[in-house]
Amino acid sequence: MAGIFRDDLLKGRTAFVTGGGSGIGLHMAERFAAHGATVVLAGRRREKLDEAAAGIRAAGGAAHGVALDVRDYSAVEAALRDTHTRFGELDILLCAAAGNFPAPVTGMSANGFKAVVDIDLLGTFHACRAAYPWLRKPGACVLNISAGQATIPMALQAHVCAAKAGVEMLTRTLAIEWGPEGIRANCITPGATDDTEGMRRLAPADADRAAVVGRIPLGRMGTRDELADLALFLCSGAAAYITGAVFVCDGGLSLGGSGLPLTFVRPS
Ligand code: COA
Repeated sequence: MAGIFRDDLLKGRTAFVTGGGSGIGLHMAERFAAHGATVVLAGRRREKLDEAAAGIRAAGGAAHGVALDVRDYSAVEAALRDTHTRFGELDILLCAAAGNFPAPVTGMSANGFKAVVDIDLLGTFHACRAAYPWLRKPGACVLNISAGQATIPMALQAHVCAAKAGVEMLTRTLAIEWGPEGIRANCITPGATDDTEGMRRLAPADADRAAVVGRIPLGRMGTRDELADLALFLCSGAAAYITGAVFVCDGGLSLGGSGLPLTFVRPS
């Protein structure tokens, strides 16, 4: 069993995962399923979802795919209603659907900016809003995936910076509004994570990767397993009193430090 926890933390729970067909969303869903949750994977491409769900089932978990675009509120609402009909109460909503492309502001059309904001921010709102009727009970939780761009301005990432800043504030607002019903809402902010679409897009060459790693105090990129462990913790009863929190899991990258090269302080 992968991970550092015992294997029944989410036994009997149902989780709906946007962006669940691949990447960090799928990795977290796999971890949820390995700990007893039934997972519903939502994403745009039917083939990827079928393959992902079959992989979880082959490993002994319970998983189903639903093809939708998070930008389409009606589709998201229908999928969540169907999830409730087929699998009962919804316990966990993980919003991991995201879009990105590197471009300067003058190199992206209004529609390009909108595409990313609509997937990342509006899509997260859609899933949270549509999940609410099925989530509203003590013990339920929302987990949204942010990015370092939410707080650190980054060239070529205006759309993601704007969208993810919104995701973090949306999460905190949900924690206030839904806390009285017992619903928790938290956020994970990954840093540079190995084997992700984001790193393939933002640091495609070895030299790009080396430059990123050179700025990480812990001296390496993060892993999808480390993010999945954090997601599992936050969605389990072990985190019952944590809400409205943004957990940065980036090896210290976002600390920035003095700007001096870390080669000065690394052990030789
Ligand atoms: N540079 C500038 N503009 C770009 C671009 C790029 N590299 N890639 C897309 N765009 C623009 C398009 O030109 C279009 O604008 P236009 O209509 O004015 O021409 C707009 O973005 C939407 O593009 P489209 O391909 O129709 O959107 P989509 O909904 O199919 O795709 C994206 C959404 C653009 C976010 C796409 O990158 C995507 O699907 N990403 C999903 C996977 C992903 O990004 N994962 C990484 C997560 S960190």
